[in-house]
Amino acid sequence: MASDPVSRRRFLKRASVGTVGAVTAGAMSASGVTVNKAEGLAALGGNPVRTTPFPRWPPATPDVEQSLVAAYRSGRWTRTADAGQVAAFEKRFAELVGTERCVATGSGTQALHTALHALGVEAGDEVLVAPCTFIASVQAILMCTALPVFVDVNIDTFQMDPEKIEPLIGSDTRAVEPVHIGGLPCDMVRIAAVAKRHGLKVVEDAAQAVLAEFQGKKCGTFGDLGCFSFQTSKVLACGEGGAIVGNDAEVLDKCYAFHNMGLTGKNQSVGIGTKYRMNELEAALLIPQLATLAQQTRIRNENAVYLAQRLEQIPGIVPQRLHEGVTQGAYYIYGFRYQKKRFNDAPKEKFLKALRAERIPFTTMYFDRLNTQPFIENTLSSRTFQRIFSKQRLDRYREQNRCPANDQLADEGVWLPQYVFLGERRDMDDIADAVAKISEHREQLARL
Ligand SMILES: Cc1ncc(COP(=O)(O)O)c(C=O)c1O
Repeated sequence: MASDPVSRRRFLKRASVGTVGAVTAGAMSASGVTVNKAEGLAALGGNPVRTTPFPRWPPATPDVEQSLVAAYRSGRWTRTADAGQVAAFEKRFAELVGTERCVATGSGTQALHTALHALGVEAGDEVLVAPCTFIASVQAILMCTALPVFVDVNIDTFQMDPEKIEPLIGSDTRAVEPVHIGGLPCDMVRIAAVAKRHGLKVVEDAAQAVLAEFQGKKCGTFGDLGCFSFQTSKVLACGEGGAIVGNDAEVLDKCYAFHNMGLTGKNQSVGIGTKYRMNELEAALLIPQLATLAQQTRIRNENAVYLAQRLEQIPGIVPQRLHEGVTQGAYYIYGFRYQKKRFNDAPKEKFLKALRAERIPFTTMYFDRLNTQPFIENTLSSRTFQRIFSKQRLDRYREQNRCPANDQLADEGVWLPQYVFLGERRDMDDIADAVAKISEHREQLARL
């Protein structure tokens, strides 16, 4: 493939972590206990591989607490246009990712809706999006009364497949919304090239990708606008929060007005808008975290690279593959596939039941058949959508809405949460040992 995504090995080499231990029975767990994998799955009564908790998220640190208390005591809880915590955060965040401007919002979902609106996505338009994502990526498009057109993923990278974009572009396609799933960058060079060829706007869903880099450039800065989430589980977290970044002052002004009830920073009413503002307490939570973000990102990268080396050696386990050009991941979640066929066709519930019993945390949230979930059909059959889109057009949409690679991911994909990567290398060994144990005892999965 032209994108040459077979780069994890080279990335691993560049990252130059130490040598990898073979996956052997009798490995040492984080708790110092020798794991006897011969004894059988924990789900069937064996001892779990993991016996101690993983790092807690979100952490409670004195600097964040002080910042929050100071903002609380100030009595200034609502943002103003250009002073205070939110304005300070916007300035710092724009500098961090390398854009001219940032507009902070109350969530990543709000950031996406605002960005699509500011770039002119309107009723009757189509927006290309990947199905391997959180429902919010798609809802933001539907909120613009536009159709989300699903571009299937690449089964190895889990990302929107640049090769599958062009056949889906039509006269109503207005924008493409690549999602950096897992906090690992999409192939932005190829996606941006396709968008340019067809005059499409690009809104990057970088909700999971704070500080992730492609060819040394931060995710969220390749498209017309980039959107981030600071919801509690994210690597930069304030409960609920988000941000839009970009360089075009006119577009960013539109974002500001839309998220501020149609009012500019100078209080002039210029158009339709809602209230999607971040508040001062949220920004006060975020600002001190900026100081530790780079270090945490480095730790997650080192641990993720090491874990990939271990997992790659386990029969039937395939970690999410990085595109050529990825220089840093955010690793908000870490994905791998267990190849069902090589696990005696055991369904995912059984694989996960075994993993849970070994006390390894995971989420399956982003491995859904999002493109066929009821919210899509319910929206298409709403009065609003029926008025905007002809029956013929909706039937054609339903017909082409197929994502077989994503269906396979939904069957086989597993995500590990970012906080497990804030620990030590031996924590990674526990994860790899648990997966190796399940692989070795895969015939037992049928009994779960
Ligand atoms: C890929 C993706 N897009 C959008 C969002 C929405 O962000 P928020 O939850 O802050 O609204 C999320 C949040 O999990 C996400 O993971």
